[in-house]
Amino acid sequence: MGESLNGLKRTMMCGEPREEHVGEKITLMGWVQRNRKLGGLEFIDLRDKTGIMQVVFGEEINGEAFEKAKAVRPEYCVAVIGEVVKRESINENMPTGFVELKCETIKILSESETPPIYIKENLDAAESIRLKYRYLDLRRPDMQKIFMIRSKTTKAVRDYLEANGFLDVETPILNRSTPEGARDYIVPSRNYPGMFYALPQSPQLFKQLLMVSGFDKYYQIAKCFRDEDLRANRQPEFTQIDMELSFVEQEDIMAVNEGLIAHVFKEVANVDVKLPIKRMTFKDAMEKYGSDKPDVRFGMEITNITDEVRDLELPMFKDAIENGGSVRALCLKCGAELGRKPLDKLGEFVKTYRAKGLAWIQFKEDGVKSSIAKFLTDDVTNSILKTMNAEAGDAVLIVADKNSVVFQSLGALRLELSKQFDLIKDKNEFNFTWVTEFPLFEYSEEEGRYMACHHPFTAPMDEDLDFIESDPGIVRSKAYDLVLNGEELGGGSIRIHDMQLQERMLKALGFTQEDAWKNFGFLLQALKFGPPPHGGLAFGLDRMIMFLAGTENIRDVIAFPKNQNAYCYLSEAPNVTDEKQLIELGIGILPKEDKKEDNN
Ligand code: AMO
Repeated sequence: MGESLNGLKRTMMCGEPREEHVGEKITLMGWVQRNRKLGGLEFIDLRDKTGIMQVVFGEEINGEAFEKAKAVRPEYCVAVIGEVVKRESINENMPTGFVELKCETIKILSESETPPIYIKENLDAAESIRLKYRYLDLRRPDMQKIFMIRSKTTKAVRDYLEANGFLDVETPILNRSTPEGARDYIVPSRNYPGMFYALPQSPQLFKQLLMVSGFDKYYQIAKCFRDEDLRANRQPEFTQIDMELSFVEQEDIMAVNEGLIAHVFKEVANVDVKLPIKRMTFKDAMEKYGSDKPDVRFGMEITNITDEVRDLELPMFKDAIENGGSVRALCLKCGAELGRKPLDKLGEFVKTYRAKGLAWIQFKEDGVKSSIAKFLTDDVTNSILKTMNAEAGDAVLIVADKNSVVFQSLGALRLELSKQFDLIKDKNEFNFTWVTEFPLFEYSEEEGRYMACHHPFTAPMDEDLDFIESDPGIVRSKAYDLVLNGEELGGGSIRIHDMQLQERMLKALGFTQEDAWKNFGFLLQALKFGPPPHGGLAFGLDRMIMFLAGTENIRDVIAFPKNQNAYCYLSEAPNVTDEKQLIELGIGILPKEDKKEDNN
């Protein structure tokens, strides 16, 4: 049985003792990292969140403590009392490595079974085991470091926003659905059988209502819930730094957020973010980088060579151009020496993005080699070389198709090449870009209608208002994203604050007036009562921490995350519920369909 503290107080943390403390009697508490015998003495490395301290036991120091220490095993939780002394064999790799604790008393506060994972940095263990025993995984110093960064970040965010007049207001979790493009998590209601709450995908509508209330500047570190396909940077339950401001335009919101980002990155990572952050329109981002979240840390921009190849008798190019598409290319420096196999592999790669194939031209010292050699003329080859700024030794990689396929496939190929050829030189760089002038709508092939590109409350650009009904595809919005190293860190927009325009927008999205009021009546109603012009933005806090902590896995920055199938190995959620609870809720479970049950 574990001993109790019985009034014993810790006087120092394990990572703190230094030479200046020699001669002091201190009490430490923590976990046994390892124990070993040496020359008639027992040694323990004692760990807490601040570091590790060596503790020594001996017959000469204290016989009782010496005997007790022999029973101690890794991950036992203990308290030790003794004098700080100089160490004989100094360990310069440890901040406490000049001293050790000569232990006079040890209390075994609790024992531990052999842990299923090693408690050490850079652990290489299956993630399922780490997540099942997450409380042990979180004992590891590198994990604890991440959560210190997380806490420091939220403090820096709060400090900055509070100093700039923002008010922290909580909004409901049991909610009505606000469409942000993902599926809702729903919660059945006992009071209203057959009815459901939806967990918020974001606090979007409530923060707009707070502006109608005159709160002026709102923020919240808000939990959001989205039932969507999970990826390395997505969790079903994640956190946003959410904000909304009144009487502002896009420039004002960008300025506040540049200040916020500069403050947080300086405070947490001692990084000076260069302000103002550069900007790019959505159109440029797509044309040059094939992505609305361009990674601009390496060049290799996409170049349009439609005019250069227009007259070639090459069916793949001709079809694309005749159908309103284009022919575009990347220049791979030093790509001239790539063999047939790697080139074929790149061809297969672009096909996964629906491209029909990859044409290539290699400019070698002794001439040109190309997959489309028999269609090329010297003039065309030379003009491609010039437009692409290609030199001897380079390869030009070409896709012809409708624009969406060209952008997607070359955008992905660019990123793939940056990995294969290690094109990002400074891995510690934080490269921010604002992307602006997003389209208001995007056409969904699946739904057969236009959907809101950001969300239905985003304002159109004034110049494009007249085209909402006649040509929705060309309407640009007052939406903006902040992109960091090719990842979307945050996004926001100026909102519609005019009820008629909001109704028009909902109509363009396919809502009848009745449906619009049924779904968004509370917002439309509020817009009747003097709403101020307003707008805002939300950052993905988890994604921000990923950058600050230097990890590519979002689960590393969430204390108790779900796995890739939204399952919690630790608590085993989701799980079945009591029959009685279901009856109270008026819910019956349909027989199971053949569904994938594998949670690994
Ligand atoms: P948006 O949907 O773009 O905007 O979300 C804002 C930011 O939240 C992060 N994010 C996620 N992080 C982890 N897991 C997820 N599943 C996930 N989904 C989104 C991203 C993203 O940039 N209400 C609007 C904001 C506004 O208009 O003010 C919104 O939610 O970093």
